[in-house]
Amino acid sequence: MADDLRKGLEGVLVAESGLSSIDGDAGRLIYRGYSIETLAENASYEEVLYLLWHGELPTVDELEAFTASLNDERAVSDDVLATMERLADAGEEPMAALRTAVSMFSATEPEVDADHEDLEATLRKGRRITAKIPTALAAFERYRLGEAPVDPHPELGLAANFLYMLSGEEPDDVAAETFDQALILHADHGLNASTFAAMVIGSTMADIYGAVTGGVAALSGPLHGGANQDVMEVLIEIDESGKDPLEWVEEATASGRRIPGFGHRVYDVKDPRAKILQRRSEELAETGNSKWYDITTTIETYLSEEKGLVEKGIAPNVDFYSGSVYYQLGIPIDTYTPIFAMSRAGGWIAHVLEYQEDNRLIRPRARYTGPEGKEFVPLEKR
Ligand code: CMC
Repeated sequence: MADDLRKGLEGVLVAESGLSSIDGDAGRLIYRGYSIETLAENASYEEVLYLLWHGELPTVDELEAFTASLNDERAVSDDVLATMERLADAGEEPMAALRTAVSMFSATEPEVDADHEDLEATLRKGRRITAKIPTALAAFERYRLGEAPVDPHPELGLAANFLYMLSGEEPDDVAAETFDQALILHADHGLNASTFAAMVIGSTMADIYGAVTGGVAALSGPLHGGANQDVMEVLIEIDESGKDPLEWVEEATASGRRIPGFGHRVYDVKDPRAKILQRRSEELAETGNSKWYDITTTIETYLSEEKGLVEKGIAPNVDFYSGSVYYQLGIPIDTYTPIFAMSRAGGWIAHVLEYQEDNRLIRPRARYTGPEGKEFVPLEKR
């Protein structure tokens, strides 16, 4: 067995996958052969979910049946709602609330006794989880505001319905399309940390509810999904400091501060998802407040042209522009990472299913660096 140690599993191939592929040098991302630009421009999040889970884009009839089956599963139990309310009252973080909600969904799973090797049943469970996440998350947000949850709107797609359940008002077309596009862009991304976490859990043939719960936990960290919230907090910090954004970023980099939304383990160039979200942020800025878009472009220009960060392979990632997009859509800042989870749940489920088709327990090793042969001293003599 090879003895070379690859910290962070950087560059290590652990599986084959037909789901998504990243060309980190060219800045390209595809889902099952379709470029992310094509899907973002032409498909809905539901079509992308279908593509990831079933291998092909749906026909009109297939999409209709699929969307109806998702919509049928949107309601969450009274117990989940009561827990969301308790957690909101206790000041829980939204990602922790979502993690709890996903774990609780299994209590009302009609196929709870299905054999975990029955991948059709796992797919149906995955569909239920994906349909319920927006409802639980929106309810948590409403409780935090002291408002009653809003029931799902049967006529609205997943993205528009989430915005509706959040505010109680139907979003306009621009908001609905922008949010739908953001969900498409976040749906899958190779073996990122949260997807790998879900796969590790799935590889033990544990239940899909556990795998998605683990995915939410892994995504919550600032080195992964938490960065979109950090970006918006930085933009607000700059605005409130009253400093020129250029002055702020000069000071921040001089003090060695990491700029959230920059850098990626796989991309050496600007993330293609960041380019699409940048355009959406710019469009929203044209009809609203251009402040946030202007600050982000100032930071990007400085870091790439003055500091040469992009030349060193540290370029804007998906989170750099998603923050200002969500902010302009009126979404609460600490809901950005749960939104990422809402979308990525589709990718986690697709990867677990794909891996379980030809499953092998994921079980790497560590090089032991601790002591050997220590003499045991009884407790009372220590
Ligand atoms: N700002 C300034 N310098 C940076 C940044 C940054 N955001 N990111 C990396 N670097 C530098 C880092 O200081 C190091 O420099 P040196 O070699 O001189 O010490 C070099 O780049 C390599 O950094 P690393 O941490 O070893 O690289 P990594 O591949 O392990 O890290 C990363 C990738 C995403 C954790 C890192 O770039 C980072 O912390 N970025 C900020 C957080 C962020 O935006 N995360 C979202 C990632 S994309 C969405 C997702 O997949 O969830």
